[in-house]
Amino acid sequence: MLFGANWKMNGTPGEALSFLAEMKDRGSRETDADLVFFPPFTLLPLLAESGKEAGIELGGQDLFWMDRGAYTGEISPGMLMDAGAGWFIAGHSERRHVIGETDDVVRKKLEKGLESGLKGILCVGELVDQRERGLTEKVVRRQLESALDGLDIADASNLVVAYEPVWAIGTGLTATPDEAQRMHSLIREWVGEIGGGNVSPEELRILYGGSVKPGNAADILSKTQVNGALVGGASLRAESFSAIVTSIPAEG
Ligand code: PGA
Repeated sequence: MLFGANWKMNGTPGEALSFLAEMKDRGSRETDADLVFFPPFTLLPLLAESGKEAGIELGGQDLFWMDRGAYTGEISPGMLMDAGAGWFIAGHSERRHVIGETDDVVRKKLEKGLESGLKGILCVGELVDQRERGLTEKVVRRQLESALDGLDIADASNLVVAYEPVWAIGTGLTATPDEAQRMHSLIREWVGEIGGGNVSPEELRILYGGSVKPGNAADILSKTQVNGALVGGASLRAESFSAIVTSIPAEG
């Protein structure tokens, strides 16, 4: 299992340090699950030490596909690594739908990040009107094809996919556990068909994201196709993120 704490544009240095210290106190070193903290970029160097102590890896919420140059405001994979990050997120729905990133941009970021040796979470998911028009499968398949077709990844285990229905992010709504199971199973099948990046569909970790909370995590995580969660709002407090992590079913 893998759990990501995505803080988005939230958090002071003090809050992030306390989060890691409290996660450690709550047993983050003892879990078998992989835990990754995605704070704002500026906090990464400050957190390297506390992250190690808590057994929690660090990641960047985004990256750019060039190594250096005249790209005002962007951050390269090398810069993320220098700052202590081992992970990145590509194609989060807020980047796709608030900032306007296209499938093509997401592909470039995913490819560059993985090529640089970082581990990446590729986010896919449909908007509410796409869902209402019955386009969920078409949209998610297109996002996967665009990101993965012909991709060459040295270490396929570095790729993780997160299914995050956009209507469920930050809204309190979630897909039902059965809906998540069904979509994750389709995603696994499609990744096998697309064949990108030497990824073995059976081994691919597929996270669910969208209003995951202590109260609904156990049901979602009990589904065989769900290999963890990408958590936004409920990750801002160690108490709730830790409760989500510890709701893993026994065999997880
Ligand atoms: P949420 O965010 O848990 O606040 O819905 C999830 C995400 O954006 O990854």
